Amino acid sequence: MNERIQRPPAEVRYADELARLRDGDTGERPPGWAMGMEAARRFIIGDPRAGITRKFVGDPALIDRALVTLATGRGLMLVGEPGTAKSMLSELLAAAVSGDSTCTIQGGAATTEDQIRYSWNYALLVADGPSRRSLVPAPLLQGMAEGRIVRFEEITRCPLEVQDCMLSPLSDRVLAVPELAGEDAQVFARDGFNVIATANTRDRGVNEMSAALKRRFNFETVFPIPDLATELDLVTTESRALLARSGVTAPQRADVLEVLVSVFRELRAGVTVRGDAMERLSGVMSTAEAVSVAHAVGLRGWFLRGEPGVAEDIVACLAGTAAKDNAEDLAKLRRYLEGQTSWRSGAQWRALREARHQLPG
Ligand SMILES: Nc1ncnc2c1ncn2[C@@H]1O[C@H](COP(=O)(O)OP(=O)(O)OP(=O)(O)O)[C@@H](O)[C@H]1O
Ligand SMILES: [Mg+2]
Repeated sequence: MNERIQRPPAEVRYADELARLRDGDTGERPPGWAMGMEAARRFIIGDPRAGITRKFVGDPALIDRALVTLATGRGLMLVGEPGTAKSMLSELLAAAVSGDSTCTIQGGAATTEDQIRYSWNYALLVADGPSRRSLVPAPLLQGMAEGRIVRFEEITRCPLEVQDCMLSPLSDRVLAVPELAGEDAQVFARDGFNVIATANTRDRGVNEMSAALKRRFNFETVFPIPDLATELDLVTTESRALLARSGVTAPQRADVLEVLVSVFRELRAGVTVRGDAMERLSGVMSTAEAVSVAHAVGLRGWFLRGEPGVAEDIVACLAGTAAKDNAEDLAKLRRYLEGQTSWRSGAQWRALREARHQLPG
């Protein structure tokens, strides 16, 4: 794939790491897997000695459990707050286990069974009738037939009756195609097939999922990053990479990023670093959101003034994040900038406070 693709899939971005891990991996592999579990784990949590970057920051035990689940007859359900890297993790797991993360269903209110299982090429259907040739596989059929991981993003956003079409593929490992006759009427899953679903706790909840479907998954919760230093480190590296892709050559300022990540953590948790209780925002103040604000801050500084982003840019970019869910959040943000910035030392905190008037409204 060429340079102009904005975000190539994980197996393309990390093709070199995946190839090295596969080549160096002589251990046992679960049937149908592109590499063993230990290599897959290193791909995700990193291995500096082997030149494998750390991609997911979090509990390695979660990765182990996820990998083990994928080798069993149950699907893996990743649940958690928005922006905690559930989708990223599902992509990395699929890239490691199947060498491909693109067998993906994007769940939504309008998702239909056709988009999950299969549909028909109507021209061929009219000409030939139902046949293998006129069948158009959707991700589920493709993943089953080829023995690959199928990703089902935001599964709980789909209507319940549509979610239910996952039942027999997950339990019996077979997909019926009643329109076809003979052995074509059933597609049996090959080794290596499994499902990774994601669901976030803010949207329509997993509680509404049918009990029958829940039983076919092992649930893993992905939590936000617990400590400031780790989150700061991640936001710095991720936004640096995004800025480089956007053509920004000014290095980011560490003091600005520290203020940015602290603001996100405090507004997310509803408590300041020194322990004062404060108002939480109802909107999402996730790490993913912090990365995108850090990117925007760098873009503003560079393309508007030819310098690194500063605290003022944080205020300008935060407005768009904070006002997403409701107008009350903007007022809370204003009170935070008013009341929780004056007691801190550091020029960027002072600048943040001074820029508070730039919030709209
Ligand atoms: N623990 C983490 N490790 C690595 N990156 C993280 C982590 N938490 C958040 N991120 C950042 O968040 C981005 C991924 O967000 P992603 O879209 O996967 O989240 P999500 O949980 O699927 O969110 P949503 O519920 O909104 O779909 C990553 O690209 C990375 O920048
Ligand atoms: Mg997601």
